[in-house]
Amino acid sequence: MISLILLALGLCASATSIPRQASPCTFSMSAVGEPNGTIVEDTIGENRIGGGYPQGVYYMNNHSLFDSLNHNCLIWPSTLQFQCTQGAAGFTNFTLVDDGNLMHDASEKWFACPAAGPGDDGSYNIFSDALQDTTGCEKVTLRTGGFSCSAEGRPPTSSSASPTASPTAAPTSSATQSCPTDISGGVYQFPHLIVPTSSQAPTTSFGDSYIAYISSTNTTIFNFDIPAGYPYNESCALLFLFPFGSNLDPSAGQYYFSGIEEEEGENGGLNFALLQTYATSSTTYATIPPVAADYGKTEIFPGNNYTIATFQCPQASKVGFSVSSVGNVELDYFQDSAPSPIGLYIVPCQ
Ligand SMILES: *[C@@H]1O[C@H](CO)[C@@H](O)[C@H](O)[C@H]1NC(C)=O
Ligand SMILES: *[C@@H]1O[C@H](CO)[C@@H](O)[C@H](O)[C@H]1NC(C)=O
Ligand SMILES: *[C@@H]1O[C@H](CO)[C@@H](O)[C@H](O)[C@H]1NC(C)=O
Ligand SMILES: *[C@@H]1O[C@H](CO)[C@@H](O)[C@H](O)[C@H]1NC(C)=O
Ligand SMILES: *[C@@H]1O[C@H](CO)[C@@H](O)[C@H](O)[C@H]1NC(C)=O
Ligand SMILES: *[C@@H]1O[C@H](CO)[C@@H](O)[C@H](O)[C@H]1NC(C)=O
Repeated sequence: MISLILLALGLCASATSIPRQASPCTFSMSAVGEPNGTIVEDTIGENRIGGGYPQGVYYMNNHSLFDSLNHNCLIWPSTLQFQCTQGAAGFTNFTLVDDGNLMHDASEKWFACPAAGPGDDGSYNIFSDALQDTTGCEKVTLRTGGFSCSAEGRPPTSSSASPTASPTAAPTSSATQSCPTDISGGVYQFPHLIVPTSSQAPTTSFGDSYIAYISSTNTTIFNFDIPAGYPYNESCALLFLFPFGSNLDPSAGQYYFSGIEEEEGENGGLNFALLQTYATSSTTYATIPPVAADYGKTEIFPGNNYTIATFQCPQASKVGFSVSSVGNVELDYFQDSAPSPIGLYIVPCQ
């Protein structure tokens, strides 16, 4: 247990200062405003809002932004357009802000202007807010999400950008929708805030943690920020991925699992619930928000993935879930998405 904590904390500390060259932490983006929607990238490296091109995947290194082809993303000095192009020289200072937005040169504002010409598919090109002729353009912000690793890319906890919502978690009735049962499709949300609590110390706040503690005395709260627009505009599924310990990436350390005796002997498992609101880093056991929808107990066994619930995606919202122990089951783990993911995720159904 202690070695798990030390290992995980050590890795957290190093993850923030030493970028992993081999597997950079990738993320996707969506525009918030009018227009809103997924950021895609066309064949000449224009980042666009909406339209038919594939979703853009990006990573950052020392305030430089790159796309999945390792092309350098810049605000083009002559046009002020946001593009990622091979061999592009120059530097635009990109920063991931606490609220989850992508900032360029100390500004979180961008202009979205209708893409003109033959490539016009109803999408918008993206420009710096220093653009002068903004005819037909609208101000937007760019929200990051879908990080492929929690330790490096997770925005801090002071997010205030998402509107509060009380999602309706009614089970979906649509039989035509299929929900991914894991995150191998690459489109998913991981928790942006993990807060353990203890019934033994009900007024103690343990704060933001990379490790989830679930035991007879520890309940952990997970916050998610669900983006606006496609593909989060229909149903979502809450997944719990539980690989074999031997398959975990070393960056995740090892989990502690009390074993299946508790589950079989004491009819135990993990209880998952949607909360009426989300946690903050100062949430304590005594201030866990009330339950909005109790998904009941799931018996978990290593080497399996579980679909806990499906519900209408709480678009453009921050939502909180609690995970507690039933029958003395204990699981303490380092939430990690790559390459052998473990923990709680939300995926959009198609
Ligand atoms: C996104 O755009 C649609 C259509 O223009 C609009 O109805 C909706 O309110 C927008 N959502 C957000 C979160 O801005
Ligand atoms: C980060 O970029 C700045 C400015 O381009 C440069 O001076 C600095 O050496 C870089 N740091 C690392 C660790 O690469
Ligand atoms: C980039 O911008 C951030 C935030 O505004 C600032 O802290 C940092 O020093 C800047 N880095 C460079 C290399 O300009
Ligand atoms: C669980 O999900 C992971 C990641 O999405 C996937 O690689 C793995 O094959 C899944 N395991 C099972 C048993 O389906
Ligand atoms: C888990 O609960 C125990 C009390 O039973 C407490 O001492 C410990 O600090 C809790 N851990 C966390 C991370 O909340
Ligand atoms: C979700 O967005 C997709 C793509 O824009 C659209 O085809 C679909 O009709 C939308 N679904 C709902 C329920 O609005």
